[in-house]
Formats: sequence, structure tokens, C-alpha cells
Amino acid sequence: MEVISNVAIAGVIEFESYTCASDTLGSSILKAVVGSKRFRVTILARHLSEPQLPESVEVLRVDYDSAPDLTAALAHQDAVVSVLTTNAMNTQLPLIEGAVKAGVRRFIPSEFSANIGNPKAAALPVYHSKIKLCDVLQQTAEKNPNFTYSLIRNGPFLDWSLAFGFFLILKGGETHLYDGGDRPFSTTTLTTRGKAVVEVLCHLEDAKNRAVFVQDIVTTQKKILKIAQEVNPERTWIPKIVSTAEMEARAHENYANGMFDLVSALGFFCRSVFAEGYGGEFQEVDKELLGIRQKTNNDLKALIKGAPKSDQ
Ligand SMILES: NC(=O)c1ccc[n+]([C@@H]2O[C@H](COP(=O)([O-])OP(=O)(O)OC[C@H]3O[C@@H](n4cnc5c(N)ncnc54)[C@H](OP(=O)(O)O)[C@@H]3O)[C@@H](O)[C@H]2O)c1
Repeated sequence: MEVISNVAIAGVIEFESYTCASDTLGSSILKAVVGSKRFRVTILARHLSEPQLPESVEVLRVDYDSAPDLTAALAHQDAVVSVLTTNAMNTQLPLIEGAVKAGVRRFIPSEFSANIGNPKAAALPVYHSKIKLCDVLQQTAEKNPNFTYSLIRNGPFLDWSLAFGFFLILKGGETHLYDGGDRPFSTTTLTTRGKAVVEVLCHLEDAKNRAVFVQDIVTTQKKILKIAQEVNPERTWIPKIVSTAEMEARAHENYANGMFDLVSALGFFCRSVFAEGYGGEFQEVDKELLGIRQKTNNDLKALIKGAPKSDQ
């Protein structure tokens, strides 16, 4: 059985540091990969970045515009896990080139997304750079049989989305129910996403050159709202039905006006998760491969209880 020993993680602070400020080990992926005690881990960080990491974690400074620099940094690495930022997806093109030249065997790109293999989701502009990367990985693996990849699709992050009000505004008040709020969708905690990365690195053959689907639970906005009402009977929510088709139209306008930030792209994200026919509820989940127990409504309740409620 092929075994991976050395893992490079590209990018470390990640969006989740906003919700996990006390977490001294950076992202949940870094925590899971280091915590598994199966790998020697190296962090790739830009020269300008200042990651706050324990001394035990080796940090290599890289220039993401330079494939030779990346090739040198990736010498002796068996796998690369990228968590590079959404707005710099193309940064991963030289990283892939460097990985092939350095003899890296498995590449996990910064995907961690909705089901972008679904044709309707794939048509949303916010995912185009990720899809381009999938195509490059597929072509690169075809040309270089020793180079392989795995794409991890996890849906919206459950804990992160609760904290940021993507599913509902936890503190109460007006809350949006997308297309009615009854459509089931797959969602995954950051911790489970970290475990999925470790399991993919431990099951190379089974996860080779394909999308791996991970989820903790399938739920709906209305179910989350019901639990939130049980947990916080003193709060009042005013549900407002919002059309994801209209949100998508607004997101197209934003993009046409050069606005590419997270808020401007919200309509695309909501469409891919909550709209009918976009694959928000995963059909085939790699539960056995990843050894991930599905969460229950009680687990969901505990997460909602513990979630930070922004602006309180
Ligand atoms: N499913 C979900 O709910 C969900 C939610 C949010 C994000 N995501 C996905 O998770 C991944 C990371 O998320 P994010 O966009 O929020 O990441 P981020 O926190 O903005 O950035 C992650 C890392 O990217 C590096 N970075 C930032 N700007 C860069 C640049 N211009 N060039 C090269 N590297 C740069 C930084 O590393 P250094 O400073 O250490 O070099 C940073 O630590 C993306 O694929 C995103 O789509 C999924």
C-alpha cells in the first residue's frame, strides 16, 4: 500500500481563524494533519505573511509566482494540501507545476466547496477558477501517472456558516429563507473537513483522481431555525423568503461591476447550496472511505447552542 510521509500545506491562517481566534495551530486542516501524527508537516507561506505557529511546525517561505521556487520548496514532499485563498485560485497553477517537477504524488487543491461537478453549479462564475483548476489537475495527472489528485467537496461549513449567519441570523431578527428554506443540503464542520483530508491522505488509491464527498449532516434552513427557536426561546425571528434566482442575478451584476468579494458573490453561493437542481444535497457521500459518523439533530442542536452569535 502506497504511504505518504511528508505533507506540505500551502496557506495556513485561513478564513476560519476569524471564528477560532484562540486556535494557535491555524486551520483545522493543519490541526488534523499534525494531530494524526502520521505525517511530517511543512507549511508553505508567502514571504510577507506572518503565521502564528508553534515552533514544532516547519515554515518554508515561497514565491507563488515562481514554479522553480516552488519546485525547490516541494522537494521531498509526497503530498500538497492547498488552502489558498478563494481570490487567488490561479496561484495554484505554478504550485501544481512545481509539485509535478518535485515528484509530489498527491495534490489536494483549495476546493472545499459545493458540488461544482453539478452542471448548474459549475455554470456559476464564482466556481470557474476552481473548475479550471480541476481540468488542469485532470490533464496533469493524465500526462504524469505518478502525479495524482483528490478534490474535497464538503458543502458550506456548518460551524462557520452558523457563526457568520449564512444559514440564519442566530441573534434573531429578520432572517432569510432561501427559496422557502425547505430544500435539504449537505453541510460539514471544519473539524470533519480536517479529518477528511487526513483520511484521503491515508487512502490514496480509493481517493485517486476524483472528487471525494464529505458531509456531517443533511438539513434545511427551516430545521435549523426550529432548533434555534428551541435553544433560544427568548429570541424572535422574522423569516423572509428570498429568491436565489434573484440573488444570482444581483451577483452577476456585481461581477459585471468588478465586485468579486464574498458578499458580492453571495447569490452564487446561495444558489449552489439552496436552489433546486444544483446538487446542494450530495447524492453519494464517501462515508465509509472517510470513516465519518453522520451527525444527529442533537449534535446540530449542540452546535447551534455553542455557535458564536455575531454582533452581540
Ligand atoms: N465551504 C465553505 O463554506 C467555505 C467557506 C469559506 C472558504 N472556503 C474555501 O476554503 C478555501 C480557503 O478559503 P479563503 O478564501 O477564505 O482563504 P483565506 O483565509 O482568504 O486565505 C487562506 C490562505 O491563503 C493565502 N493567501 C492569501 N492571499 C493570497 C494571495 N494573494 N496569494 C497567495 N496566497 C494567498 C494565505 O496564506 P499565507 O499568508 O500563509 O501565505 C492565507 O492564509 C477556499 O478554497 C475557499 O473557497 C469554503
